[in-house]
Amino acid sequence: MSGTVPGPSQAELKRQVGEAALAYVTPGSIVGVGTGSTVNCFIDALGRLPGGVAGAVSSSEASTARLAALGIRVYAASEVESLPVYIDGADEIDHAGCMIKGGGGALTREKIVADLAARFVCIADASKLVDRLGRFPLPVEVIPMAAAQVMRRFAKLDAEARVREGFVTDNGGLILDVQGLSIDDPAGLEAEVSQWPGVVCCGIFARNRASICLLGTPGGVRTMMF
Ligand code: 5RP
Repeated sequence: MSGTVPGPSQAELKRQVGEAALAYVTPGSIVGVGTGSTVNCFIDALGRLPGGVAGAVSSSEASTARLAALGIRVYAASEVESLPVYIDGADEIDHAGCMIKGGGGALTREKIVADLAARFVCIADASKLVDRLGRFPLPVEVIPMAAAQVMRRFAKLDAEARVREGFVTDNGGLILDVQGLSIDDPAGLEAEVSQWPGVVCCGIFARNRASICLLGTPGGVRTMMF
């Protein structure tokens, strides 16, 4: 019988980059930890790191629970001045390391923890690499009172923002998912949206872009440096 040999599944690629990220963690250090299914693979690998870590600063209640279940101490962001590295996934990443994040709704805490870190290591399967950001709906966290006005502002940019139904962030905010943006200038759009009244966080990570991306491909983990 002839046929093609199936490549690794997306879940397997996520597992591979989660494992590969361990190379960027110094045993005994405190590591910044993101949120999502790829990060879950990293957290599980972290539990097996020889020597272990001193602890983690987490970007969500979900990651905190997973870390704690493995006996990894979770520090508040306010307890550290800086972190050597932050490991997180992305919904999209471009060839300059700029990302769209927040598919899991944790973007605000993710950006806070990323901002503490000297290096952002993005872990993602190959489907996340794009030439231009914007096909994935841009998540934006807003204070509920501001939602309608922020939606009108996006409409003026010819984009459509929708409230993520039945979802409240760890901070008590709402998520708007914005479709129809063609993001030619990620840093410019991030700066613009971030200063609209009532916007808590814009899911473009250009200012806090990745320093390294470990991309899971059928041929193995590809390392991209930015
Ligand atoms: C959560 C995020 C995640 O990093 C992003 O959604 C990717 O998730 P996954 O690893 O499950 O594909 O930004 O807010």
